[in-house]
Amino acid sequence: MNLLDLFPAEDYRLQMRFERGSVAGFFAPTECHAELISQRRHWLQSAPQTYAALLPGGIPLLEETIKTAGGWQTGVEFAGLPDGTPCQRCLALGEVLEPDYLLLKPGDDGSFQLLGGCVCFPSSWTLAEKIGRPLEFIHGVVPGLNAQLGNQIHGFLNQIKPGLAWQRTNWGLSRSAELNQHPERALPRLAASVRLEEVWLRVEHQALVALPRNQGILFGIRIATHPLAELKKDPAVASRLSRALQTLPEDLARYKNLAAARSSIITLLKS
Ligand code: HEM
Repeated sequence: MNLLDLFPAEDYRLQMRFERGSVAGFFAPTECHAELISQRRHWLQSAPQTYAALLPGGIPLLEETIKTAGGWQTGVEFAGLPDGTPCQRCLALGEVLEPDYLLLKPGDDGSFQLLGGCVCFPSSWTLAEKIGRPLEFIHGVVPGLNAQLGNQIHGFLNQIKPGLAWQRTNWGLSRSAELNQHPERALPRLAASVRLEEVWLRVEHQALVALPRNQGILFGIRIATHPLAELKKDPAVASRLSRALQTLPEDLARYKNLAAARSSIITLLKS
């Protein structure tokens, strides 16, 4: 992807920004398949309860996802997922797909609830604290998100048409290139003393896919990391990232773990 597209030529603001994409294209294996699958198996097999969850309401969504995936012709054999308990099938899907996946469906009050998924590569959040919760709760820790985008997100999820992947991105900065940034791992955090070689841009490529038979949503997340030292070689990208960092509201900077390091990183991008 063109990194310039991540940082619009404007002050930082929370935004939706969806693009249409192909579902098969989003979930298809990439050249990193073997490495990603090996990491996913490691986390899902060593700590399944940390990296996967499935509530009873999520079972039809899981089965619809597996069935739909059979038509993606990605070269990955979904039809061949082993029979087993719903939890075993949830884990098995997480071990063949490269992206993390989450399953949502509206509850009685109409709000979208998180009912299952596998998240091996979380960006500093835990599935355990989000499972069974409505999206408004899940987003509650992101300052200003529900107030600014809550209604738009709800409206969008309620009317998404099947057959397409509705794609968007989030970005963050991290002191680690690790894909799995589960809080339990206590990876190094950004600090004012950070050096250029210690900072990575972490991009979350997301896809929302309707599951029409069960009025559900499949939410896929792929992580890409880029060394800041590489990004800096493109002055246009470096300048747009600097502007985003300079204009990020303080509460969002704290949420994104950038409060202590942002002025140092702005200086690193300049010098
Ligand atoms: C539909 C449109 C959506 C938009 C515009 C949106 C936007 C965002 C934004 C801006 C953030 C903050 C990320 C950052 O700046 O570092 C965020 C965090 C997050 N979002 Fe969403 N999101 C959407 C849908 C979803 C869905 C369907 C899920 C599924 C559960 C989800 C789960 C999360 C989680 C788990 C976090 C991290 C929260 C934490 O740090 O504890 N989002 N989202």
